[in-house]
Parts: sequence; C-alpha cells; structure tokens
Amino acid sequence: MIRSRILAAGGYLPADCVDNATLAARFGIDTSDAWIRERSGIRQRHLAAPGETASSMGAAAARQALERAGVGAEAVDAIIVATATPDSSFPATAVRVQAALGITHGFAFDVLAACTGFVYALAVADSMIRSGAARTALVIGAETYSRILDWTDRGTCVLFGDGAGAVVLRAEDGEAGILSTHLHADGRHAGILHVEGGPGSTGTSGLLRMAGPEVFKHAVTKLAAVVDEALAANGLARADIDWLVPHQANIRIIEGMGRKLGLPTERVVVTVDRHANTSAASIPLAMAEACGDGRFKPGDLLLLEAIGGGLTWGSALVRW
Ligand code: ACO
Repeated sequence: MIRSRILAAGGYLPADCVDNATLAARFGIDTSDAWIRERSGIRQRHLAAPGETASSMGAAAARQALERAGVGAEAVDAIIVATATPDSSFPATAVRVQAALGITHGFAFDVLAACTGFVYALAVADSMIRSGAARTALVIGAETYSRILDWTDRGTCVLFGDGAGAVVLRAEDGEAGILSTHLHADGRHAGILHVEGGPGSTGTSGLLRMAGPEVFKHAVTKLAAVVDEALAANGLARADIDWLVPHQANIRIIEGMGRKLGLPTERVVVTVDRHANTSAASIPLAMAEACGDGRFKPGDLLLLEAIGGGLTWGSALVRW
C-alpha cells in the first residue's frame, strides 16, 4: 500500500529571540512575564528581522529537512506552503521557496487555514502522493505573525512568534507514513479569530484579532473530538499513541490534551514555551526539534492536532 512517509523534518527560527520582559519593554506593553507564563506557558519568541519572510524562512527549514532526509532538492516534485502571512498575495510563497531551492519542475502552491494550515497542507500532500500526482513533497509551515500583530493589544501581541518548519514526504510502499488526516471548518466562528481585511479589502487594519477565551473553549472541545475521530477511524486506542505533537498555542490546552490521552509529559512535544504560537509553523517546528534530537523512533505513532482561524481544525495520525 502506497503511503506518504515522513522522511525528516527541519526548522528555522529567526535570530532575534525575545523574552517576555524584553518584549514588554521594546513595544511598551502593559503586561508581565508572570501573566504571560501563567496564562499561556510562553517564555520567549523569535521575531523575524526586516527582510526575513515566510519564503526565506520556509526555504531554510526546507534545506534542513532535505539534508536530514538525505534527499536532494532535485527529487522534490511538489511544494506546499501553509501560511497566513505570505510574502505577497502572489506568486505563492511556495513558488518563491521553489526558486530559492533551485527547483524548476513540479508544482508549488500555498494553503491557508491559519493555525491548522500545516495539518491541511499535510492532508493535501498526502492525497496527491497517494493518487500519484507527486512522489516527493515538501510540506512547509512558515509565518511572520509579528507583521500582523496589533502591538497595542496586549491580549494577542504577547502570544505569537515567527518561524518555519518543513517535512519531506515520499511515496513508499510500507507501514510507515500518514495513516489518516481529518479536516474540519466552521466559518460561523470566523469573527472570534481573524485578520481584519487584507489585500482584497478596503479600509481595514490588516491586523490579527482574537477573542481568546472564546477560542479557548472551542479548542478544548474540538481538539478532543478530532483526536477521538482519528483513533476510531484507525481502530486504535489512546494507549497506542507514542507522541502527541500538538499545535503550540497555549500550554494549558496542550497539557489538557496530554492528560486526556493518558500520556506522560515527556511524550508530548512542547515548544510553546520557547517559540510561542507560530501558527502554521508550530507543528513542523516541533517535529523538527524532536526529529533533530532523535526522539521519534521507527514504528512510533504520532498524533498531530491543531485548531485555528476559520475556525478550522484537524488531525493527522502518522507512523514514523
Ligand atoms: N498581560 C496582562 N494582562 C492581560 C494581558 C496581558 N498580556 N492580556 C489580557 N490581560 C488581562 C485582560 O485584560 C483581563 O483583565 P480583566 O479581567 O481585568 O478584564 C485578564 O487579563 C484575563 O483576560 P482573558 O483574555 O480572559 O485571559 P485568559 O485566561 O482567557 O487567557 C489567552 C488569554 C491566553 C489568550 C487564552 O484565552 C487562550 O490561550 N486562548 C486560546 C488561544 C488559541 O488557542 N488560539 C488558537 C490558535 S491561534 C490562530 O489560529 C491564529
């Protein structure tokens, strides 16, 4: 049976690493390190330098993923970038990544599902690999949320960071690979987590708005449901999961999911303390970290889950 096997993951974080106290001082935010840590678990985040973009960071993450996979860029025939902060409306960020990697064949496009973007992009890539449309794919999450934050809104600006993560997928006949993906959206809730306008709107700020407590409530119930859905679809039990690789928005949501699954904390991949919420980049960045230090072993079962603007939410079950 042909599956999309994840060969390796890579990541990139901007050099400017800013702790909570420095962030508050730099942007004049009325907040405290204690409030941010207690409510979200975030200690620091990385902020893109002027000139750094989703495509430049995405290409850097892709290079590390390809190197770890032992795959040359010339083998890549599909690039999908999940981003809500593209370099430009068009061409797609994925096309810019393709050019940066020196690839001139295959196809490249972006997917937008906010913080669920990587899970959506993984699902699309998996479908295309299993249908034969691609053989070796780069799936990338890359974000520069620092450019869409309202630095006068302390309820949101302390929660996000910049960065990129990437995985290399290859069509392989075997047991390892993506076992399932489940995607959901409910546009009725667009207003609780959105960016005010964009290139196709007039008179809008272009800044992120979030009703945090509302999103929190949806996150707890929808993520629990999507995890049960993924397990049921595969005839698996909670005890079968070796690693939870969640979207990194809030440590309280992540720890709650870990408890629900009965996983010890060391089996939950956590980066939110150091990366903050990097939206579509958060899951592949977490995978890059765990891939880099050899945490994932062949045969391990990984559960990926995310919720974000839309609302959108979803899961992927992966045999490493
Ligand atoms: N520093 C100090 N005080 C603050 C700050 C801050 N940075 N921000 C808000 N406060 C104050 C508020 O003004 C409020 O004060 P009040 O009670 O006097 O009115 C108080 O702290 C509590 O504010 P809440 O918003 O109710 O705080 P809450 O405990 O809900 O935590 C948080 C907020 C961290 C945003 C939480 O709701 C959350 O994590 N929500 C989910 C986020 C999420 O999962 N997003 C999905 C992905 S993101 C994406 O898709 C782009």
